[in-house]
Formats: sequence, C-alpha cells, structure tokens
Amino acid sequence: MQKWIMSGLFVIAGALALVLMFTLPSREQAEQEAKPQLPEITMNAEQAEAIVKANCISCHGDTLQGGAGPNLQKIGSQLSADQLYSIITKGKGGMMPSFKDRLKEEEIANVAMWLAEKK
Ligand code: HEC
Repeated sequence: MQKWIMSGLFVIAGALALVLMFTLPSREQAEQEAKPQLPEITMNAEQAEAIVKANCISCHGDTLQGGAGPNLQKIGSQLSADQLYSIITKGKGGMMPSFKDRLKEEEIANVAMWLAEKK
C-alpha cells in the first residue's frame, strides 16, 4: 500500500519537474529580452536607403556625414549588424530615438545590415 503512494509521489514529482523545466524562463531567454535579437532576413539595399532617407538623415545628414547625430558613413567598421539593430531598436543616449514603435523589426534589421556593410 505504502509502496504505491511512494511511487505515485515520484511520478507526480517527476511530472512537476518536467513542467518546470519547460516553463521557467531560461537565462538565455532573459538575455534575449534585454538585448533585441536581429531577425534573419535578406538585406535589401534599396529598401534600407528609403527607410534611412525617411527616418535618419534629418539628424545623421543626407549622406550620413553627421549633423545632430554622429557620422555613420563608416559605422560598419565600429559596430556589427547586431549592435546596430540593438541601437536603432532601443535608441541611444537621450538624443538617438528608439524606432521600436516606428519601424517593423524587419525594417530595422534591414537598415542595421545595410549600415553594417558601410566600412
Ligand atoms: C532626432 C535625431 C536622430 C534621428 C532621427 C536618428 N538618430 Fe541616430 N543618433 C542621434 C544621436 C544624437 C546619436 C548619438 C547618441 C549618443 O551617442 O548618445 C545617434 C546615434 C546613432 C547611432 C550610434 C552611433 C555610434 O557611433 O555609436 C546609430 C547607429 C544611429 N544613430 C543610427 C540611426 C538610424 C539608422 C536612424 C534612422 C532609423 C537614426 N539614427 C535616426 C540622433 C538621431
């Protein structure tokens, strides 16, 4: 009789452990939330240029030479597409706006990849 109770408890404990393993947010997930992840897309230079013209040149200059914001003409030699994606998504300092609500993730990713090639 007691044996049955014990094995029943083991089964329940095992099931609980399994559920917890799959539902507890892993450390990786927490890190991903803090740092936006670059979605996998194929870069489209024409679209990137159009987005940059519409959203960025007012501060970064019409040839990205700089203005209110820094020069971005060789930004790819300093920052990776991942880092650029994070900056454009979240903004930087008090002056560089966040584009999270203004552009789609794919659009930000496209611009990030386009800028990352500017070396
Ligand atoms: C309202 C003005 C403004 C707009 C619009 C703007 N930026 Fe910025 N940006 C800034 C400023 C100012 C900084 C410098 C922030 C700092 O370092 O504190 C900056 C910094 C950056 C940086 C980091 C540069 C570095 O050397 O660390 C990147 C990359 C960037 N902007 C890209 C963009 C892109 C792409 C867009 C358009 C989608 C954009 N910015 C639109 C003002 C702007």
